[in-house]
Amino acid sequence: MSVMEFRNALGCFATGVCLISVNDSESGPLALTANSFSSVSLEPPLVSWSIQNDSECFREYTECIDFGISVLCADQDRLSSHYANKGSHDARNTDFEEDPRGVPLLKRAVARFSCKMWGRHLVGDHHIIIGEVVDYRAGDQTPLLFHRGQYRHLVPPID
Ligand SMILES: Cc1cc2nc3c(=O)[nH]c(=O)nc-3n(C[C@H](O)[C@H](O)[C@H](O)COP(=O)(O)O)c2cc1C
Repeated sequence: MSVMEFRNALGCFATGVCLISVNDSESGPLALTANSFSSVSLEPPLVSWSIQNDSECFREYTECIDFGISVLCADQDRLSSHYANKGSHDARNTDFEEDPRGVPLLKRAVARFSCKMWGRHLVGDHHIIIGEVVDYRAGDQTPLLFHRGQYRHLVPPID
């Protein structure tokens, strides 16, 4: 099986885009772009995302106690691209504010989830991270989408 063809097939599934954030005692506040965010359970309230095992932020994201998820708005594609680059995960800037547990979250986002680490599991070349949502905030802004390797926008259906 060709990895590239498999990846292209997975890209047919349109997703939203999130910034996953942590406040690490050594590295400070960090953010990383992810589209693997998923809802898992309503009771208890659980969500998941997955991180590549070779991420430069692997330790910070797999050993954290708390983390945040900010769902990006339609016009935040530049933020997404920035935090998808190696060496540019520093979240010490005015786009972010800290939740009561000290986790950075985007001030402006469609939705924000403050999570407590619930579990992490090695699955192939990623770790699935499961978080228990301890607080959240949701708005009615239009979300940014990702489909077939490109940012997309919601459009009304054509009759
Ligand atoms: C739209 C988009 C979605 C991404 N989703 C994920 C993801 O779910 N998990 C992940 O580990 N990396 C994901 N990445 C890549 C990370 O953002 C990561 O920062 C990038 O691979 C750079 O490598 P580093 O983690 O070593 O800095 C995504 C990138 C983009 C542009």
